[in-house]
This record gives sequence, structure tokens and C-alpha cells, in this order.
Amino acid sequence: MGLRHFLSLNDLSASELKRVIDRAMVLKADSCEGRTCNAMQGKVAVLIFEKNSTRTRISFECGIVQLGGNAVFMGPAESHLSRGESVEDTARVISRMANLIIMRTGAHERIEKMACSAEVPVINGLTDFNHPCQLLADLQTYIEYRGQIAGITAAWLGDGNNVCHSWMNAARILDFQLNIATPPGFRPNQELREQCQSNVFITDDPFEAAKNAQVVITDTWASMGQENEQSERNSVFKPYCVNSSLMRHAHKDALFMHCLPAYRGREVMAEVIDGPQSVVFSEAENRLHAQKALMEFLLNVNG
Ligand code: CP
Ligand code: NVA
Repeated sequence: MGLRHFLSLNDLSASELKRVIDRAMVLKADSCEGRTCNAMQGKVAVLIFEKNSTRTRISFECGIVQLGGNAVFMGPAESHLSRGESVEDTARVISRMANLIIMRTGAHERIEKMACSAEVPVINGLTDFNHPCQLLADLQTYIEYRGQIAGITAAWLGDGNNVCHSWMNAARILDFQLNIATPPGFRPNQELREQCQSNVFITDDPFEAAKNAQVVITDTWASMGQENEQSERNSVFKPYCVNSSLMRHAHKDALFMHCLPAYRGREVMAEVIDGPQSVVFSEAENRLHAQKALMEFLLNVNG
């Protein structure tokens, strides 16, 4: 079998995904109780980030150190990528020196090129198309709070964006229902909708999507790179704001999730994100544990 990367949740089977989440929970408990794991002893991971980040960078860097490894971070202006060196040459160079690559970039094709030319595993730290590491943490969080995710109804409100795409993959792999409410021009990717059609329902109506949902999820209306569309998006997406009236349509024990960064008063009101149903900071924390489990898994399966 060839080198295993993690560019999408689809790169893991359902049983591997469950195994990584279970392991993340064990690593979390171990870390609370002061037990350490040296899965990255003597290993170096290179983070190539072509976009900003708070959580992804910090959780990977902390996780690598906690596993006994070392991290090298290259931001948007630091490597030669921003001066036109090819992704392929960058992949070949890093592969001669390091054991793992974590990349955050725009066009998904760039991370596919990185993986094609790399001789070490590549992890997707977000592209314009998807954000699978976020879903590892979100799935772990839902399971921690509610026990299991198979068979539930989840509701996504707002933009049919990268995080939404990864929730769609999760719904198909773990077999739960995902109701998505977006304005008509902001639907998720058509090919992905076809792949996930047994688990995904799409509507314009945020209240229809949220009805009886056990978790309500949203994200920023203007993702990185869309800043100049902010004011137009603010008006198109206004009906999709997650407020307390919307949450009342969901299941009475519904959780609220958001990958962060959040913009209070736009996609979510403070009363919801700072209220008792919100688990957003557990999602953020679980980035650390889930990615430690993922790195350990990839280093093991790739020998
Ligand atoms: N949720 C997430 O990926 O956050 P950052 O952009 O801060 O990494
Ligand atoms: N959709 C957002 C997610 C940030 C973590 C973005 O791409 O900017």
C-alpha cells in the first residue's frame, strides 16, 4: 500500500476514524492525569501555512511537543512558496529532512500536489475545500458530550464552505443525518452532495434545518480570502444567524458548535455561543488531542 496521507476524512475508513477518536479520548485523559506519550520522539513535523491560524497552528505545535517531537513553522510570507517555488519541489525538500508535513492553503489542488510529491505523510490543516482536522475534534466533542453520533440529526446553518464539506463527509462515514440551510447561491459542492446524498438534506430554510437537531453548527460567513465580500455576505446570510429563537427549534438538549474564529452578532449571537448549549471551547481543545491521535496513527501506518 502507498503512503497514507490525511487530506480528507475519506482517507480514513469508518473503523479507523472511530479508532483515532477513541485514541484522542485516551490521550486527553492521559494528559489530564500527567501520563506522557512519546510517539514523535526524534521526529520533526513541518507546518507550511499559506493562511492565518490560531487553533490549528497552536494545537499542532503543542501536540508535536507533547508527543516528544519538534515542529518547524513556516508562515505565509516565510517560505519560497509565496515567491513562486513549486509545491512539488517544496514537498521533495521537506521529505528529505522531516517526518510529517502539515499544510494550510487555499486551492485544494495545492495540497494534493504536496501529497503527490511528498515522501512523508501530509496532513490537511484546512483548504478552501475542506477542514478534516476540525471534524476529528468536532466528532470527538459530540461523542464526549452525548455518547454516540450515529443516527443523530445535525444542522449546519450558513455558508456551504470547507467546514460544511467535512461535516458532509462525516455524516456519510458515521451515518448520521446532516440538514444544511444555506442561501441558494452558497450551497456546498455538487459532487460532494451527490456522494453524501443519503445523509444530507439541503434547504433554504434555517428553521427547517434546525428542527429537532441534536447539534446546531455554523461558521463565519466570510472565510479567509473572502474578506472583500464581507458586507454583501452579511446581508445575504442574515436569516441564517444562530440566535436563541433558532435554537428553540432544535432539540431541547441540542449542542451548539462553531470551529472558531466566531463573529458574535453575525453568524451567531452571544447569547448562544456564550450560553449553556455551546461547546466551542471543547472543540478547540480537542483539536490538540485529536491531532495527536492522528499524527500517531499516520506515523504508525506508514511505518
Ligand atoms: N478552527 C480553526 O481551524 O481555527 P484557526 O483558523 O485559528 O486555525
Ligand atoms: N471557513 C473558515 C474556517 C476557519 C477555521 C475559513 O476558511 O476561513
